[in-house]
Amino acid sequence: MTNELIADGDYVLIYLDARRTYMIKVQAGQTFHTHKGYLKMDDLIDKEYGEPIKSSLGVTFATLKPKLTDYMMKSGRNTQIVYPKDAALIVMFSGIGPGSRVFESGTGTGALTSALAHYVGSTGKVYTYEFRPEFQKNAAKNLQRSKLIDNVEMKSGDVTMGINEKDLDAVILDLAVPWLVIPHAYEALKPSGVLVSFSPTIDQVVRTTEALREAGFVFIETVECLMRTMQVERGKTRPNTMMTGHTGYITHARKIIKQYCSEPLVAEAVNEDLVEEQEKIEEISEE
Ligand SMILES: C[S@@+](CC[C@H](N)C(=O)[O-])C[C@H]1O[C@@H](n2cnc3c(N)ncnc32)[C@H](O)[C@@H]1O
Repeated sequence: MTNELIADGDYVLIYLDARRTYMIKVQAGQTFHTHKGYLKMDDLIDKEYGEPIKSSLGVTFATLKPKLTDYMMKSGRNTQIVYPKDAALIVMFSGIGPGSRVFESGTGTGALTSALAHYVGSTGKVYTYEFRPEFQKNAAKNLQRSKLIDNVEMKSGDVTMGINEKDLDAVILDLAVPWLVIPHAYEALKPSGVLVSFSPTIDQVVRTTEALREAGFVFIETVECLMRTMQVERGKTRPNTMMTGHTGYITHARKIIKQYCSEPLVAEAVNEDLVEEQEKIEEISEE
């Protein structure tokens, strides 16, 4: 196995500790300043990823090859982003993989776009819509940096007006009024296709769920992912005191073909699921 060497123009994640990491673009002849001294970028060129590098003050940093979550977390932001913990669930629920065709809006900073683009790969496509040109421009930069731009088609426009793409495998929404996009998403998705919507408030979730039931979606579920990090030290291992208390709710659903289905099935599908789940829990607790 040949080890990958750092080249001029590459991005490198410089690591001091979990709180102090820096994403830098290697540029021959340049320096990168930290509060622990500066690093000469020439010292990085032709090093193997993973090798340590010393600053002018003799402090050791590690050189890491950035991965998807590094690109997401270090993206130049002009909107709130979807964090990796939520993006991971969104990708899982969406069912996408290499070759999938996915619609997404709004693009925002492009953090979620990167995750989708990573998983659809070079044989798939993410069509991402944004109505603020300055946000779209910034997201394009972020996607170029992570080398995922070729898996993405960036589109301008207000998605509440309609979706041009058809036969999509998944529609992913992260915008203020997802319920206005649901009828267009129904038309744009393949039968059995997946819709996933990320919203910070419960009010948005209620309106989105009502719109999903109305449009012809089933298997509707909303989840929230709370992630606790751990302090790991022999004799003192426990959850860290501080945690992110809330990011958003994830609602996901499947499209069915309405003409084969009576209205009550669509409307009752969720409740039936819940009843079945409740019955299972009761059966287990009686055993
Ligand atoms: C919260 S941000 C999305 C962040 C993105 N998921 C990320 O991880 O970087 C919401 C974006 O949706 C855009 N947006 C809101 N309504 C829209 C609409 N009707 N059509 C297109 N874009 C819209 C906003 O301009 C904003 O950039």
